[in-house]
Amino acid sequence: SGATTVRPVAVLVGSPGAGKTTVGALLAARLGVTLRDTDADVEAALGMSVSDVFIEQGEDAFRAAERDAVEAALAGHPGVLALGGGAVLAERTRAALAGHTVVYLDVDLADAAKRVGLARDRPLLVEAPRTRLAVLLRERKPLYEQVATIVVETAGRGPDEIVDEILAKL
Ligand code: S3P
Repeated sequence: SGATTVRPVAVLVGSPGAGKTTVGALLAARLGVTLRDTDADVEAALGMSVSDVFIEQGEDAFRAAERDAVEAALAGHPGVLALGGGAVLAERTRAALAGHTVVYLDVDLADAAKRVGLARDRPLLVEAPRTRLAVLLRERKPLYEQVATIVVETAGRGPDEIVDEILAKL
């Protein structure tokens, strides 16, 4: 008894190019809290970039580190938490998200493709990025929907409008 539970105000999930980083930063600023990102946590834990983890240790090693990073952040970060796009692939992670406020940023292929084309490198999308992205969106949509408590359609909308909707639904 008396134990304090630290939990994120909101956990953002969605595919690469959904805008988790941009929306997460704005949402955190509006709430006066910090944004934490599990990709950055994995990079800090393993001492290399996400791309280098994929190249040098493989995707399985990345996913293992990601599961640990998600669980640590869910139990230890009181602000906004953005998960890597593939974090929901892990059954353990989906189970760990139960009881949290999870915001799914739903994005269409056109918008996601536009954003990942501009953004930092993404190892899963190096080859045939548009085709890979289409497959990711189709395969993961049910997983994002399964963990989400709030779904936000991002098509044709800017970050301010998206954050307004999240704040109204929190
Ligand atoms: C991945 C998404 C990336 C990163 C890694 C794998 C994925 O995060 O975790 O490259 O499987 O979708 P972002 O969603 O922030 O790009």
